[in-house]
Formats: sequence, structure tokens, C-alpha cells
Amino acid sequence: MKNKRIKIAPSILAADFSRLAEEIKAVEKAGADYIHVDVMDGHFVPNITVGPLIVETLARLTSLPLDVHLMVSNPDTQLSTFIKAGAKILTVHLEACRHLHRSLTEIRKLGGRAGVSLNPATPLCLLEPALDYIDLVLIMTVNPGFGGQEFIPTLLPKIVQARKLMDKRKSPAELEVDGGIKVANIDLVAKAGADVVVSGSGIFQTPDYRATIAAMRAKIAPK
Ligand code: DX5
Ligand code: ZN
Repeated sequence: MKNKRIKIAPSILAADFSRLAEEIKAVEKAGADYIHVDVMDGHFVPNITVGPLIVETLARLTSLPLDVHLMVSNPDTQLSTFIKAGAKILTVHLEACRHLHRSLTEIRKLGGRAGVSLNPATPLCLLEPALDYIDLVLIMTVNPGFGGQEFIPTLLPKIVQARKLMDKRKSPAELEVDGGIKVANIDLVAKAGADVVVSGSGIFQTPDYRATIAAMRAKIAPK
């Protein structure tokens, strides 16, 4: 799509937590659109990260929308806690939801934007019946659980298919892509049809966040 401005969502998983306030301010000033927060429970994924307390802290530190990615089993029990903590977008994993429609409508009822994430191995067709209740589709390009993993390039056609499906259905939802995205490969993800790109180590492990985000934007600017 021509002239589309792609949003960039730094994942705080790769930030220096001893200087969280500075890190958030720095990416905000560098031109971030969302702050991506990876919540892991040690059950749905092997790792444990942060919970609502950090979301609440971040909400006090930034006016950017908090894009909260729940990698947890039984997300239904956590939805209101994370919305109350300040999540603007709340994304559940399709694989973790027994009643996806119920989870999504609940997020909307609570005042959040409802996101659904798909693991690399989860087929896109499972998304179709729920598309009308989704505000954000999150395609994982790594297996969730850790930052700093390598982008899986064979998932590019899945992003293209998601774009096609969403356009065909005239879905106003955003298409977000997450995992292993850096300056070097952001153009591939943008070309495949992403609206929002998550990047953790690709931003926070570079010396100058402003220069990195500018380089990302330069690579995906409509020619
Ligand atoms: C993976 C997380 C990602 C990840 C992104 O489970 O959902 O958001 O932290 O970090 P990088 O960009 O380093 O892969
Ligand atoms: Zn994530």
C-alpha cells in the first residue's frame, strides 16, 4: 500500500531495566509509536518476565500506547488487571484461548483494543472466524519466549497472506509482526504488509535509538 506510515514498537524486553524510565523516554524521543510489553508466565512459554506492576509503572512514564503482548496460559483471568494497569492494546495468544471470541469481546468491553497473536506453527485460517472482533493481528516471526532470537524468514508468506485476508475482509485491524526484526530486515516485513513492527534487541542493543529508528524508517519509506 502506498504512503502507509508503518508504526514502530520497541519491545522493552531488551531494555536496561535498571534505567527503565530513561530507556522509555529515549525511545519515545527517538520516534517510537507504541511501547511493546512482553508478558511471559513460565507456562505458556518457558520464560518469566513482567506483570501488571511494570505496565502500571510504564503508564506513568509515557503517553505512548502500551501494546501488551500476553504470552500466558489462561489469559482470561488476567485481562481486567492488565487493562486497569494501563494496557491500550491487549494481545492474547490464539493457542492459549479456549474461547477466543469470549476473550476478545471481553478485552473490548473492558475498554482495550483486542489483539490476537499466532505462533509460527499456527495456521492463519484459525484467525478467520474471529477477524471481526480483532483490532490487531500479531504474527510471530520467532517462537515466543525470548528476545534476541533470529527472524524466521519462511514466515514472510504468512504475513503476505494475513495482509490479503485482512484486506479482503476490509478489516480495520492493524497487522503487527514480532520477533528478530532489525534495520537489516525491516524492509522485508514492511513489503509483506505489516502496519506495526516490533523490535527489541534491534533497537535497545544499538548505541543510538534515534539513529536506529531513523534508519528503519528510511528503509521502509515509500519510494
Ligand atoms: C518474543 C517477544 C518479542 C521479542 C522481540 O517472545 O514476543 O516481542 O521480545 O525481541 P527481538 O526484537 O529481540 O526479537
Ligand atoms: Zn512480543
